[in-house]
Amino acid sequence: TKAGHQELPQETIVRKVPVLGFSQLGSESAWRLANTSSIMESAAESDVKIMMENAEQSQDKQFEAIREFVKQKVDVIAVAPVVETGWEPVLREVEKAGIPVVIIDRYVDVSDTSLYVTHIGSDFYEEGRKAGKYLLDKFSDQREPIGIVELKGTEGSTPSIARGKGFRDVIANHSQFRIIESDHADFTTDKGKEVMKKFLHERKGQIRVLFSHNDDMTLGAIEAIEQLGLVPGKDIVIVTVDGTRRALEKLSEGKINLVVECNPLLGPNLIQAVKEIVKGNTIPKRIVTTENVFTQVTAAGEIVNRSY
Ligand code: AHR
Repeated sequence: TKAGHQELPQETIVRKVPVLGFSQLGSESAWRLANTSSIMESAAESDVKIMMENAEQSQDKQFEAIREFVKQKVDVIAVAPVVETGWEPVLREVEKAGIPVVIIDRYVDVSDTSLYVTHIGSDFYEEGRKAGKYLLDKFSDQREPIGIVELKGTEGSTPSIARGKGFRDVIANHSQFRIIESDHADFTTDKGKEVMKKFLHERKGQIRVLFSHNDDMTLGAIEAIEQLGLVPGKDIVIVTVDGTRRALEKLSEGKINLVVECNPLLGPNLIQAVKEIVKGNTIPKRIVTTENVFTQVTAAGEIVNRSY
């Protein structure tokens, strides 16, 4: 080159960092906090820029966030939907803007599944079945009625609908199992305690089993049970879903009988999917997380690995 002149590179590669708009549904549970951290950390470790909005259980806020992401012209939108229904209109708007959508964790009930590229998350129906199967085993030689109370999660949410259905499908042909009370406690500890108190009050002496849709509600329910002088895990058999550290501790103390795992660490899968999508690659329509069940025997071994 002549002095003072810079030679231009033959080819200038402009590498654009993909931008992901993520609408998280809330912060109701330890599971949810772990889910958010996993996604934020995975994004930070990769070259994906993330914009996250927390909707605090409001579907309207999720709509607002999604519309804002469209305005900002993000490359991909990920939605963890609070409830299943009502998504079609906003997803049509996103489709018109040409932005691909990933559904994460809970599901959206839409008639046209081309409105999203993939759904990443647990098989909630199978989780409910696992809870039911455990009870069939545990009470295999009992013919007298077994009174079950159920703490359900957020009304209209996939985990609440599907866990409830999976559970019912398994116990259906075993008439000794009777769901005597069932109510929503929104996946939170406070509500779990409040609703369990109500069950205990209304169904004194009739409750043999608690099936709780998540650990946070279970922890609240355990408090309510102990306040009445009953022994959780013995007087009332407890089956819960998630597998947070605090629940695994209660499991190893004998206060919970079974934990059905629901894995919140979806960050690596999500970020991988985003990268493939922006490259134009095809990915599976459904990505299911592999999950376990934990017993009082296996709990201790799991606690050491638990980050949430
Ligand atoms: O959608 C997953 C569920 O939502 C988890 O089981 C629960 O803890 C969370 O709030």
